[in-house]
Amino acid sequence: MKLGLQGARFLVTAASSGLGCAIATELVREGCQIVISSRQKDRLDSAVSRILTQTGASSSAIHAITADVTNRDDIEHLVRGAKEVLGGLDGLVTNAGGPPTGRFEEITDEEWLSAFNLNLLSVVRLIRAALPVMQKQGAGKILNISSISVKQPIPNLILSNSIRTGTMAMLKTLAMEVAKDNIQVLNLAPGRIHTDRLQSLNNERAKREGRLLADIQAEEQQNIPIGRYGTPEEFAKLATFLLSPVNSFMTGQTILADGGVIRSL
Ligand SMILES: NC(=O)c1ccc[n+]([C@@H]2O[C@H](COP(=O)([O-])OP(=O)(O)OC[C@H]3O[C@@H](n4cnc5c(N)ncnc54)[C@H](OP(=O)(O)O)[C@@H]3O)[C@@H](O)[C@H]2O)c1
Repeated sequence: MKLGLQGARFLVTAASSGLGCAIATELVREGCQIVISSRQKDRLDSAVSRILTQTGASSSAIHAITADVTNRDDIEHLVRGAKEVLGGLDGLVTNAGGPPTGRFEEITDEEWLSAFNLNLLSVVRLIRAALPVMQKQGAGKILNISSISVKQPIPNLILSNSIRTGTMAMLKTLAMEVAKDNIQVLNLAPGRIHTDRLQSLNNERAKREGRLLADIQAEEQQNIPIGRYGTPEEFAKLATFLLSPVNSFMTGQTILADGGVIRSL
């Protein structure tokens, strides 16, 4: 199956490492023109070099714009810059870092508000800035990177469990509103994909529970029906399919990439 992505233009946020970077790599491999962003310029520049080396693409295939998705001005500057450098926008991947861990009684008002900024308001603002471009073009794809926490609360992650569920509901509502404009909105929920974020969550848990990291990793992987963590590359291939013209009749859905870890129907 050919994905038909040659020349398609995408903006991918939070893409200097992990899942965002893997998606950017796969899109470039498919012949897309992309803009990637994240907060730290040095990490972003290294990601560009890595992606060019891994894909063998020419340097014109990828541009980097530094932006913090919790900052409204950064978002406006980013989307305007992406539109200018790419000459339009066929798709947007809204990704951000994850919120801190913690239980109900430990989380302050400030932490609730900053998680809302990071994982809900950033998505609203990015889409608000990109939507008119897609509407004018008569087509577009929006893919949000979420978490399996929207299907089953994860212990000690009350911020992710709560805020991302709101984002999912916002996206579902939006999907109904913009389907007439030929814009598809999807929410892709990773569960246990081997990235820096997974590593730091596991390190934190090992410390909290006074256990060996290796024991935590073994226990977690036993609980995944497929029997192992996912790789960023396999996650990115699924994202790339969802962003491609081949995926033409799916909208408003949350798709799980979790090796079967969520047991509900
Ligand atoms: N990996 C998993 O199994 C898993 C499971 C459930 C949910 N998730 C969620 O999926 C998302 C991506 O996860 P990951 O595993 O790829 O995380 P990661 O390896 O920690 O990467 C996070 C990326 O986000 C960027 N970033 C962080 N805060 C940002 C901000 N305010 N503005 C712009 N960029 C920002 C970082 O770059 P800079 O430092 O340069 O900004 C980095 O490129 C996170 O929200 C995570 O919680 C992941």
